[in-house]
Amino acid sequence: MRALVLLLSLFLLGGQAQHGSDWTYSEGALDEAHWPQHYPACGGQRQSPINLQRTKVRYNPSLKGLNLTGYETQAGEFPMVNNGHTVQISLPSTMRMTAADGTVYIAQQMHFHWGGASSDISGSEHTVDGIRHVIEIHVVHYNSKYKSYDIAQDAPDGLAVLAAFVEVKNYPENTYYSNFISHLANIKYPGQRTTLTGLDIQDMLPRNLQHYYTYHGSLTTPPCTENVHWFVLADFVKLSRTQVWKLENSLLDHRNKTIHNDYRRTQPLNHRVVESNFPNQEYTLGSEFQFYLRKIEEILDYLRRALN
Ligand SMILES: *[C@@H]1O[C@H](CO)[C@@H](O)[C@H](O)[C@H]1NC(C)=O
Ligand SMILES: *[C@@H]1O[C@H](CO)[C@@H](O)[C@H](O)[C@H]1NC(C)=O
Repeated sequence: MRALVLLLSLFLLGGQAQHGSDWTYSEGALDEAHWPQHYPACGGQRQSPINLQRTKVRYNPSLKGLNLTGYETQAGEFPMVNNGHTVQISLPSTMRMTAADGTVYIAQQMHFHWGGASSDISGSEHTVDGIRHVIEIHVVHYNSKYKSYDIAQDAPDGLAVLAAFVEVKNYPENTYYSNFISHLANIKYPGQRTTLTGLDIQDMLPRNLQHYYTYHGSLTTPPCTENVHWFVLADFVKLSRTQVWKLENSLLDHRNKTIHNDYRRTQPLNHRVVESNFPNQEYTLGSEFQFYLRKIEEILDYLRRALN
C-alpha cells in the first residue's frame, strides 16, 4: 500500500513538473480551487490576497513610510513579456524599497491583475471593505540579504510586494501609461516579448506613496509561497476607460483566449492582523465631508491633467 502511495505521488509530482504552467483561475483541472492539490502552500493559513476590512485594520503610528529609491526615470531597455497569465515587466536592481523595519528589498518585476470578463467586472486581487477595484498593480521585490530572486523566493523572509489599485472614472488618458499600453499589441501571444525603452515606475504608481496597509501573506499565484511582506497603497492610479479596456483585451493565454479575470479570490485572514500607517479617515471625518473632499480632489485632478 505504502509503495502504491509512493508511486502515485511520484506520478503526481511528475505531472506537476510536466504541466507546471498549466494552472488557471477558472478553467480546466488546475483551476484555483485545485491549486492546493499540486501546490500544497496554496492551502496554507497565511494566503493572499485578502479583504482589507478597514474597521479591523490596526493603525500603527510608529510605522514609517516606505523609502523607494530608483523608482524615478530609468534609462535603458526593459523586457516586457506575455507569460500567459499577465503582462510582466522586468525591473532593474537599482530600484529598491526600504520597509519600516529597515529591510531593503530589490525590485524584480512588475505585473498586473485585471477583470474584463464583462464590462463591469473588476479584477483587483485585494478588496477593500469587500469592494474589488478595477486593476491591481504588483511590484515584486526580494530581500537584499539574498543574492538573487531565485534564492529569495524559497526563503521565509524572501519577498515583498508593493501593490496599488487602479481607479477608473471619466478620467482622461494617463499619459504615463501610454508607452506601456501601446506595447501590449506586440505581445498578444503567450511567450512573446517586447522592450520598453526607458521606464518611470514612480509615475505609474499613485501620487501618495506614503500611506499603506501591510500584512504577511503569500504569492497570489502557484506555488503560493507564504513569504511575502505585503504593502498595499491606499491611494489610486487613475486610468481612462479606454486604457483599462486595452489592458483587459490585448493579451491571449495558452489556449488563445483573451486573458480576463486573472485574479485569485480573497483568502481567509485567519489570525493575522493588517496594519496601516495612517488613521482611517472615514471615522475621523464625517462621511458627507469625505464625499465633498473626494469630489474636490477629482475636480482638481481633472484640471491638473487638462492643463498639462
Ligand atoms: C532612502 O534610502 C536611500 C538608499 O538606501 C538612502 O540613501 C536614503 O537616506 C533613505 N532616505 C530616507 C528618508 O530614509
Ligand atoms: C494560437 O494562434 C496562433 C496564431 O493564429 C497559432 O499559431 C497557434 O497555434 C494557436 N495556439 C493554440 C493553442 O491554438
